[in-house]
Amino acid sequence: MRYERRGEVPAKRHVAVRQPAGNGHRRLLVEEVMGYEGFSGNETILYHLNSPCRLDSVGDFRPIVRDDWVPDAHVHRLADTNPVEPGGDAVSGRRLLLYNADLEVCVCKPDQQLEGFHRNGEGDEVLYIHRGGGVVRTVFGMVPFKEKDYVVIPRATTHTFELDDGDQMWLCFHTPGEVETPNRYRNRYGQLLEHAPFSQRDIHAPSGLETWDESAEFHLTVRVRDGYQDYVLDRHPFDVVGWDGYVWPYTFNADDFEPRAGRFHLPPPTHQTFQGPNFVICTFAPRMLDWDPQAVPLPYHHSNIQSEEVMFYAEGDYAARKGVDVGCITLHPSGLPHGPQPGAVERALGAKSTDELAIMWDTFRPLRLTSLWREIDRPEYAYSWNPEKSHVEA
Ligand SMILES: [Fe+2]
Repeated sequence: MRYERRGEVPAKRHVAVRQPAGNGHRRLLVEEVMGYEGFSGNETILYHLNSPCRLDSVGDFRPIVRDDWVPDAHVHRLADTNPVEPGGDAVSGRRLLLYNADLEVCVCKPDQQLEGFHRNGEGDEVLYIHRGGGVVRTVFGMVPFKEKDYVVIPRATTHTFELDDGDQMWLCFHTPGEVETPNRYRNRYGQLLEHAPFSQRDIHAPSGLETWDESAEFHLTVRVRDGYQDYVLDRHPFDVVGWDGYVWPYTFNADDFEPRAGRFHLPPPTHQTFQGPNFVICTFAPRMLDWDPQAVPLPYHHSNIQSEEVMFYAEGDYAARKGVDVGCITLHPSGLPHGPQPGAVERALGAKSTDELAIMWDTFRPLRLTSLWREIDRPEYAYSWNPEKSHVEA
């Protein structure tokens, strides 16, 4: 990312910093270094009023239980998230849809405000906001979010949510790895290159640092060791008076992705937005289509020899996919070729632009499905390339 600073930080690191405590005394601030890869990765230094280790009491630990669905058949699959009922808050409302050791993807339609604070101690998170909005209040400051935002929350970021009124529908990605902008978009200093499809100006860092010097009962849940550990704190966790560094939450809006097109069709890496270990996240944004008079403006058939390809249809009219509506997700697993359904190429020839917005994630290792996918699976999709069998269910 890039260097950012909020609030007051001393001129040198690792020095004694004092603040007036209100009783004539000057309180020594607590410096916390939050960093990746031991002390070799990106880091931020935060200055707290109290020790971030301070606890009032330790609560329960709840292991994460994943309810797998192992289908009888290995086929292309379609799931429709539209019938998923809203429920829960911004954390408890996450319903696991598919996962592997590198990436977990949940559907979340929160209809309650989160009580207390949350921290992911074992993974980075990306929330894609399909509908809704609000503010993520974090130890780094406020991160307002709106429709089509990706909200990137680094591990160890204590935060809570204030949701706007109305409908919310999010995709929530969790990875034990690090969420990054793609290497090939960055120069050797980390700055995004001129030809990258977005720039540093499109990345929105926290604003409005909150510093609470408050004693009360604050509930904090930390995701760690494949479960949720509850704690009670007796000091407000947002007690930071200043921070600086390269690790902080941010938003990037899909409408700020500048799509690329060519004389002939360009492959999915053109749309890449984030990278992580053994996965990518891509944004297929509305764009001009391939302009050669002979160009086929849809994807060619392809075999995912080494990856699982999952696509969420966010907006527009999907020329290449039959029976796919906004809110649907297709899974084209490894081992099978896929491409446009019959008739789609003929219909698309000569098209000048597309209004589609889709979010795609590819994993290099197989994905497991859950009972949520089983609930919303549309088994007829497997036969949708055969006009004589498109009513059959796999
Ligand atoms: Fe594909």
